Formats: sequence, C-alpha cells, structure tokens
Amino acid sequence: MKKLIILAAGKGTRMKTQLPKVMHQVANKPILEHVIDNAHLEENMEVILVVGYGSEVVEAHFGDRVKYTYQTEQLGTGHAVMMAIDYIDDEDEVIIACGDTPLISKEAFKELANVKSKGYDAVVMTSVVDNPQDYGRIIKSRGLFEKIVEERDATDDQRKIAEVNVGTYIIDGKILKDAIKKIKNHNSQKEYYLTDVFEIAAKEARVTTSVIDQESMLGVNSRLQQAQAEEILQKRINMCHMENGVTIKDPRSTYIDKDVIIEEDVIIFPNCHIRGNTKIGKNTVIRENTTIENSIIGENSTIQSSTITESKIGNHTTVGPYAYLRPKSDVGNNCKIGDFVELKNARFGDGSKASHLSYIGDAIVGKNVNIGCGVVFVNYDGKNKFVSEVGDNSFIGSNSNLVAPVKLGEHSFVAAGSTITDDVPAEGLAIARGRQAIKENWNKNK
Ligand code: UD1
Ligand code: CA
Repeated sequence: MKKLIILAAGKGTRMKTQLPKVMHQVANKPILEHVIDNAHLEENMEVILVVGYGSEVVEAHFGDRVKYTYQTEQLGTGHAVMMAIDYIDDEDEVIIACGDTPLISKEAFKELANVKSKGYDAVVMTSVVDNPQDYGRIIKSRGLFEKIVEERDATDDQRKIAEVNVGTYIIDGKILKDAIKKIKNHNSQKEYYLTDVFEIAAKEARVTTSVIDQESMLGVNSRLQQAQAEEILQKRINMCHMENGVTIKDPRSTYIDKDVIIEEDVIIFPNCHIRGNTKIGKNTVIRENTTIENSIIGENSTIQSSTITESKIGNHTTVGPYAYLRPKSDVGNNCKIGDFVELKNARFGDGSKASHLSYIGDAIVGKNVNIGCGVVFVNYDGKNKFVSEVGDNSFIGSNSNLVAPVKLGEHSFVAAGSTITDDVPAEGLAIARGRQAIKENWNKNK
C-alpha cells in the first residue's frame, strides 16, 4: 500500500504567527492541504500527519480524512518520522513530504513514484538551484547517490554543490523501518536527520534522485515566501486556463482557485476572484471587480463588479454592476439583475428583470416578471423569515414592498409605491398607498 507521511510539527517561527505555519493559506487553501492533495497519488492512500504546535487547528480542519501522530519536541526530521513509524508496514511504499512546500506539483510526485518503479528502493527528490545555501547538498560518487550533507555539516567543497535536497522522498517500508532505527543525532544541530536514512539505505539498496525545477521547491517559512508561493500558484492556474482558451486580461490581478472550471472563450477582466467549486460556461464575460464563490455561471452571460456566492446564474443573463447574490440565488436564462440589487435564497425565472436597487430575499419569482426600481421583499418580521411568490408575467411597480408571506398571481400588477400585505389574484391590480390630496393655492396663502 502507498502511504504518505507529512512533517508538519514545526511552529514556523519566522512567520510570526499564532497559527501553525502549514495552516496559512495560499490560493485559498491551507499550505498543508496543497501538499496532501498533490502527494495523494492513490484513492486509498493513507495519510499520516506528524503534528505538534497547534495540532488542534490542523485536526479541526482535516478531521478524519487523515491520521495524526504527535511530535511534542522537535528533535529533527528523522525524529518526526519515528513518530509515524508504527503506521508503516514492511510492504508499504512510503512518500515522505514536508507540510510547507505547496508548489511541488502532482506531476512531480507522480514522477517520483515513477522513477522508483524502475527498480529502485528509494528516491530522493532534488533540485539544482542558483543559491543552495541552507539546503542539504546531494553527494554523489560516480553519478550514484551516496548521501545528503546539511549546510552546517558540509565541507567548503560540498557547499559548492548546487543540487539540493527538496525534503521529499519515496522509500520502501522495510528499508525505512530498518534505517530509521540506526540514525543518531551526532551532528552540529544534535538533531535526528531523516536524510541519514538515505545514506544508510544507499549502502545496501538502490537509491536514486528525481529532479524538479527550483521554483517548485520553494518552502513557506515567512510572509514573503507565502506571497511568492501565492504568485507562482496563481500564475500556474491562470496559465492553464489561458491554454484552455480563456482570455485573462491581467493575469497578475486575477485570482482563481485550483478547482474552478472555466469553458472556452470566457473573458476575464482585471481584479476578479473566482473561488471554490465554481464553473463558468462558454462565452461568458466576467467584467472587472467581480468575486464569484462556489457558483455555477451559464453561457453567454455577463457579470460586472458583483459578488456571487453559492448561487446559480443561467445563460444570456446580465448581472451588475454592483449586484450582490447571496447563497441559494438561482437566476434563470435571459434575466437582468441590475445595479444595487441583492438576492438571497431566491428563484428568479427566465426572462425576469430587476434592474435597479432591489432586495429580493426568500422569493420565488416566475418568468418574465418585471421588478421595478427599489422593490423590497420584506421577508423578516424580526423573528422569522417568510417566502413570497410572484407569478409569471407580473409587474411590480417601483418602490413597492411585498410583505411576506404573500402571493402574487400570474399577470398581476402592483402599482408603484404599494405595500402589499395580502395576496393579489391573477390578472389583478393592487394599489396600496394613500391617495394624493391637492390643496389649491396652499403655498400662496400660508
Ligand atoms: C531539511 C533537510 C534538508 C533539506 C530541507 C529542505 C534534514 C535533516 N534536512 O532541512 O536536507 O534541504 O529540509 O527544506 O531533513 N519538522 C518536524 N519536526 C522536526 C523537524 C522538522 O515536523 O523535528 C518539519 C518542519 O515542520 C518542516 C519540515 O519538517 O515542515 C522540514 O523541517 P526544516 O527544519 O524546515 O528542514 P531542515 O531540517 O532545515
Ligand atoms: Ca531547520
């Protein structure tokens, strides 16, 4: 069985934070979650997190998706793996990764496993970098992997080596279990080095390396590196959408989460945030300053300067500028949701329009309904929420209130400025406002 051990007990001192470092987010997900997602090569792979500082926060997030083991004192990466060793069986293939390297892609993990499958017992992921300072150096003799030497334990000659240890490995369970028993903390840091496992293994077994690009090995140890990781991840995601036929006017100000699906010929203007499990249909235009989260947007629609959360928008519909669609808004095809319109838990039928300044909460609006400027669905009496229904082809005049629960039949008409508290029959007109009075020459005589 493939198993995954992730080292995540560190506090992350340089982040200057209360939160465990690996729970800080990049691309809208904890750093550690990127590692788990990418290293998770098989459906039934067991994940063991070595946790320490702030373990309760880690557990609250991941729940029973993963197993936990505790390292109360940080005595080194080798010691961290010792804390997880009881989960490992001889016949397992074990991937070991650090919880703070979110840029190592799924492809890189696949390649690591692929290299191993060519007849190796262990593979060390490495990278050739411009500045190898502080990383463990990869020592090879006659082209074969021999060992990893930490910066502080290295000779001047070894320090010149540019191939460094990423901190990610794959190794046979039995070899790991045998070697981990043998490592000592006889080094400059008095730590148990996981790297020593591979030196021990290389003496009897076949150990080799798998190289990744240096951008991918960036670990997040500071807020600056967090921002760098964010930028790299975003760049990769945007690049992928552009390759799939999406126009992104300004990739630097476009933030798209990893699981978002965008179809061909979508155009995205600057400063948009598209999050969670969102899908955007073909030919839709996402104009500037829009945030969309966990929503489904249809084809040939336009969204401008609006916020849409957990909602659905049909085809050929326009939203915004400045509309706010809160959860469970379900807007049909050929609709218009105009400026300063707010929806919440509202079904809005095909061809209906709310062009300006309305609140439509807890509503079932039929087809081809016209909602005038400033209409309010009064859904809350201070204690409970109620639903209003508006039949197909109805017209609600400007500045009206519909006090829920209330039902308007099909083809009904509400006069502007009405406060509707009783149902309106199909084809009926409701006027609910004080009559206008005229006092002749009132101003002249006062
Ligand atoms: C380690 C490697 C080094 C490699 C570098 C890549 C060793 C001895 N050295 O360096 O060759 O180039 O990673 O970043 O392994 N952790 C624990 N418990 C511990 C110590 C560390 O959980 O006792 C976790 C940290 O939270 C972190 C990861 O292990 O996620 C790596 O630890 P870190 O201290 O950054 O690595 P180094 O030992 O500096
Ligand atoms: Ca360290």
